[in-house]
Amino acid sequence: MHKLGVNIDHVATLRQARGTRYPDPVFAALIAEQAGASNITLHVREDRRHAQERDLELIKKSVSIKVNLEMAPTADLKAIALRHRPDSCTLVPEKRHELTTEGGMDLLSDAYPGLKTYIAELKKAGIVVSLFIDPDEKQVTAACKLGARAVEFNSGRYAESKNDKEAAREIERIRQATVYALSNDLTAHVGHGLHYHNVRPLVEMQLLEEFNIGHAIVARAVMVGFEQAVKDMLALLRP
Ligand code: PXP
Repeated sequence: MHKLGVNIDHVATLRQARGTRYPDPVFAALIAEQAGASNITLHVREDRRHAQERDLELIKKSVSIKVNLEMAPTADLKAIALRHRPDSCTLVPEKRHELTTEGGMDLLSDAYPGLKTYIAELKKAGIVVSLFIDPDEKQVTAACKLGARAVEFNSGRYAESKNDKEAAREIERIRQATVYALSNDLTAHVGHGLHYHNVRPLVEMQLLEEFNIGHAIVARAVMVGFEQAVKDMLALLRP
């Protein structure tokens, strides 16, 4: 059975839109746990536009499943991670004005000086570190050298593919990068842009351990309720 990480950011988006106390992502996290999710993911962004530090703190204290904090590798966010000790951190690139995370970290660029030390500090605190990268062998090799335990492949390009041919090409890229990651003793996750109608080809690959999905689940929850939305996705993750 593949693991489902439910990203609750967009429950927080709805709350932040009005500055209310509801809907509470903590409540959503507990429902996701009850529905069978393997972990809860939240992305504390530099501009705090959805999940807040308070959400991380309360979710970590409330659920029994794992908590994964998505964050850009900044000093501010490292301090938050060290304060609340999520089970894992997925490091992502972040541009303030992007609508959502737009691509994987380019580990071959010089954009992340000191990343190896940054990762080592999180690991020392008992946090599993995953790096969000594009499905590319060179990025996987770099992730390995940096000391990551897992990689999350960016499925954004797959999700945005315009036709079957493009989709098949992106699936093959993810498959090859996953095989390569596994041969390098990394755990392989996938996420970004996945929904009820595009997730199956990645499930059928039978190689990816964890699927991190947010927007589609929260969107469906508006119609059918959060528990049902999580269960519907879990049904699609069955081999
Ligand atoms: N994984 C990563 C690294 C992300 O940045 C996001 C979006 O926050 C997701 C997964 C979830 O993407 P979506 O909301 O499109 O399901």
